[in-house]
Amino acid sequence: MKILLVGASGLLGGALSATLAQRGHQVLRASRRHTGHHVDISDCATITALYERTGAVDAVICAAGSTPYKPLHQLTHDDYLTGFHNKALGQIDLVRLGLRSVAPRGSFTLTTGILAREPIVTSAAASAANGAVEAFVRAAALETAPVRVNAVSPTVITEALDRYADFFPGFEPVPLQKVVQAYIRSVEGAETGRVFALG
Ligand SMILES: NC(=O)c1ccc[n+]([C@@H]2O[C@H](COP(=O)([O-])OP(=O)(O)OC[C@H]3O[C@@H](n4cnc5c(N)ncnc54)[C@H](OP(=O)(O)O)[C@@H]3O)[C@@H](O)[C@H]2O)c1
Repeated sequence: MKILLVGASGLLGGALSATLAQRGHQVLRASRRHTGHHVDISDCATITALYERTGAVDAVICAAGSTPYKPLHQLTHDDYLTGFHNKALGQIDLVRLGLRSVAPRGSFTLTTGILAREPIVTSAAASAANGAVEAFVRAAALETAPVRVNAVSPTVITEALDRYADFFPGFEPVPLQKVVQAYIRSVEGAETGRVFALG
């Protein structure tokens, strides 16, 4: 398959890129910097330009998206907007603007996270954005058939504990390769409207 992978230079994106290539897929790697294809998912014009460059693809994976982390009483209107633009609307726009570029029975696989269902202190903006993406996936799948739409929702990844261990005390981490397998299931399988929760 010809697969567009957004966030390809990150921890998750790097592992996905390697595994997809090992499985014989052609991977088009995209992010804001350091990949063959430029895109900023918070900027619709760059998403449109990306699809114009890639042409038709069989699958789109998004492993990008960030949100602010602050105590609830410090989160501003702009913080929520920033989180929503970068994690929720960015991924929604990847689907919205990419529907005509994805092959019949092709797929979009978005990325959310455990904070949609198991919040932590400081995660209100992140939890809201992740929850929005999961609700979108379930609703969009009703109307995109035969194109499929899923999300992968991991807990903290073992290989990211150096960055996030302090935020997730007592949370059992999930190995990166187990997370990668959920994307393989979404891309190579037949399911749609699913949120694959890990942890
Ligand atoms: N790591 C974890 O434990 C964990 C757990 C659950 C969920 N997640 C979610 O999984 C996703 C990936 O996590 P990660 O740890 O792999 O992150 P990461 O290492 O920081 O990588 C993020 C990737 O996304 C790209 N990116 C960031 N903002 C972008 C934008 N606006 N437009 C296009 N590309 C953008 C980055 O490259 P550029 O900066 O060059 O654009 C990079 O390639 C995130 O949504 C994260 O919330 C991660």
